Amino acid sequence: MLRPRLFRAVPVLAFLTAACAPDGGPDAASEPEMLAARPADVSPLFEPLPTEVAAPDDNPTTPERVDLGHRLFFEPKLSRSGVISCNTCHVVGAAGIDGRSVAIGEGAREGPRNSPTVYNAAFLSAQFWDGRAPTLEEQAKGPIQAHVEMDLTPDEAMARLADTGYGPLFEAAFPEEAEPLTFDNLARAIAAFERTLITPGAPFDRYLSGEGDALSELQRQGLGIFQDRGCIGCHNGVLLGGNGFAGFSHVVGSDDQGRAEVTGDSADRYMFRIAPLRNVAMTAPYFHDGSAATLRDAVEIMGRVQLRQEFTEPEVDALVAFLESLTGEFPLIAHPRLPRTAGGM
Ligand code: HEC
Ligand code: HEC
Repeated sequence: MLRPRLFRAVPVLAFLTAACAPDGGPDAASEPEMLAARPADVSPLFEPLPTEVAAPDDNPTTPERVDLGHRLFFEPKLSRSGVISCNTCHVVGAAGIDGRSVAIGEGAREGPRNSPTVYNAAFLSAQFWDGRAPTLEEQAKGPIQAHVEMDLTPDEAMARLADTGYGPLFEAAFPEEAEPLTFDNLARAIAAFERTLITPGAPFDRYLSGEGDALSELQRQGLGIFQDRGCIGCHNGVLLGGNGFAGFSHVVGSDDQGRAEVTGDSADRYMFRIAPLRNVAMTAPYFHDGSAATLRDAVEIMGRVQLRQEFTEPEVDALVAFLESLTGEFPLIAHPRLPRTAGGM
């Protein structure tokens, strides 16, 4: 059962009341069929991953913006050395991660944290392990300027893009603006591209929409354990996480104080964003410091630290199998052609 003490930092779930399966009353016909077909053993706290994500009013996901953002995401000129792009640490052909415990950026400098996936980041209520950027637009400005990542000033970045021939692409993406080649628009275009990086159609989504045999027997056992033993108290909603913060006492004593570094409030020490679990089987190593090498390790630590429960081997097997059912269908992202002048790199 849910343990209310776990809800500390988790926001109230508005859809809790809305998502109960209809029982055939007079309004039943108007309920979405999907909910009517949801298997009885799955909690209304879970939501299927949508196939599209809403964009903010000031940044519609137009094809021109997505095209520009796609190129910028792969653009190594956005780093001081000219060799590191967003795709270096968030390899879109490999689940949106770099596979390292912590990221390595400009000058081979190690950052303090593990690179999370960019897939489905558009559904997060806050970006980063400590939630310090509210939107994808805000987030995108960070790595270009970070000393340990790409290490350029906004002016340097924009001058490079102007020299390289990005002007017409910015004009096409922001046709209403007289001077579109700005750092804000760079961030907008990258965010528009990221809103296309979503992975619907996981076996769990198919199960949620009524395909009873989309999960194996073991995966259904794992789902039961995940719900009954309290994982769902934190990991719920569309992403099974990503919508609140919780203490992670496993790391007490480390230099990384998590959310407190953003809020300055000592009550937030060692609070981290509840990790979203979509595609989690593809994104090892785990945790904000990359300290868990395998999904098994991560699950055992979660049980022990967050729930004070030891799981048996078969229970861990079932939980891991359930988490594997969260792997969706990744879009095929081509390596784009980058604007270059003849003879230049
Ligand atoms: C050197 C490696 C590196 C580069 C280059 C890099 N990132 Fe990241 N990215 C990270 C790390 C590490 C984090 C987590 C940092 C934190 O939480 O403090 C992160 C976080 C993110 C997040 C938040 C995801 C989440 O789950 O909160 C997004 C989105 C993102 N990066 C997109 C980008 C974009 C866009 C670029 C290019 C402009 C970029 N990154 C360049 C390593 C990198
Ligand atoms: C009290 C809230 C809470 C509970 C309960 C909880 N988790 Fe977590 N979980 C978190 C937080 C917070 C993180 C991020 C930790 C960090 O900073 O690295 C996380 C991270 C994870 C990760 C690593 C994801 C990644 O990308 O690195 C996995 C896997 C996971 N949880 C699975 C589970 C399972 C399985 C259970 C039940 C046995 C569970 N969690 C129970 C809060 C919780």
